Amino acid sequence: MSKLPWLLSLSLSLLFLSVTADVQIKVTNNPADQLVTAINTNRTASKSSSLYDNPGLACIALQYIKAYQGDCGAIGGANAKKPPEADFVETFAPNCGVQTSTLSPITGRLLGCETKYVSPSEAFSGILMQNKKSIEIVTDKNHTEVGAAVSGSDGGSPYFWCVLFSNGTSNGSFVLEGGVAKITRPGCFSGANDECNSAYPSQVHHSWLYVASGLVALWYVFAL
Ligand SMILES: *[C@@H]1O[C@H](CO)[C@@H](O)[C@H](O)[C@H]1NC(C)=O
Ligand SMILES: *[C@@H]1O[C@H](CO)[C@@H](O)[C@H](O)[C@H]1NC(C)=O
Ligand SMILES: *[C@@H]1O[C@H](CO)[C@@H](O)[C@H](O)[C@H]1NC(C)=O
Ligand SMILES: *[C@@H]1O[C@H](CO)[C@@H](O)[C@H](O)[C@H]1NC(C)=O
Repeated sequence: MSKLPWLLSLSLSLLFLSVTADVQIKVTNNPADQLVTAINTNRTASKSSSLYDNPGLACIALQYIKAYQGDCGAIGGANAKKPPEADFVETFAPNCGVQTSTLSPITGRLLGCETKYVSPSEAFSGILMQNKKSIEIVTDKNHTEVGAAVSGSDGGSPYFWCVLFSNGTSNGSFVLEGGVAKITRPGCFSGANDECNSAYPSQVHHSWLYVASGLVALWYVFAL
């Protein structure tokens, strides 16, 4: 009899645990998909069409990021570099399982890099939308599809965000062999209906480090 309240509180805390677990899955869903949502919301608000989220194109966007090998300095400014066009056929498509015959024109590209991880909506407005030109790229009426990716170079800082736009047809471009994208970690890409949080662990790690050093600092302050 006396066990009943205890059991009740145990099952209540289990219920609570499972609720928090659910919430976490929603929060870490897939930052690349959330970036595409931000782009399509901005497009429809600007009277442009919503774009098809193509997983083959998005996987290529992730390979595109990897070509920079974590070098933030190479994406803009005087030392700006771009992966050679041939990489699409020779490296990016094969890594993703995209049929090379279905590669289609890239009609726009957005690339950003930050040392700290920010939310997809902040990445959109704060990193990728830096000027009039990038707003034009996002709202360009020539695009029909989009693919987005985010990755830390080795799963950690710096964080690269890449969006590729194409004017290919949704069922005939960046077609995946066997219909499924090869998931290549680290990094997340849009359109594949997968949960992805590989951009997060090191962020969690960093905030723990931050908290830990904060505690140490406090301890010193009080000890002095
Ligand atoms: C689209 O996003 C840009 C950059 O954040 C913003 O300046 C613009 O107002 C947005 N457009 C609409 C229609 O919301
Ligand atoms: C759209 O495509 C047409 C034809 O390729 C081109 O002339 C035009 O400049 C493009 N528009 C934009 C905004 O890039
Ligand atoms: C797609 O864009 C490319 C490059 O801007 C252009 O040459 C081509 O005609 C476009 N294709 C379609 C179907 O609009
Ligand atoms: C692809 O889409 C086009 C137009 O949306 C359609 O005419 C065509 O039949 C589709 N092809 C396949 C293989 O589904």
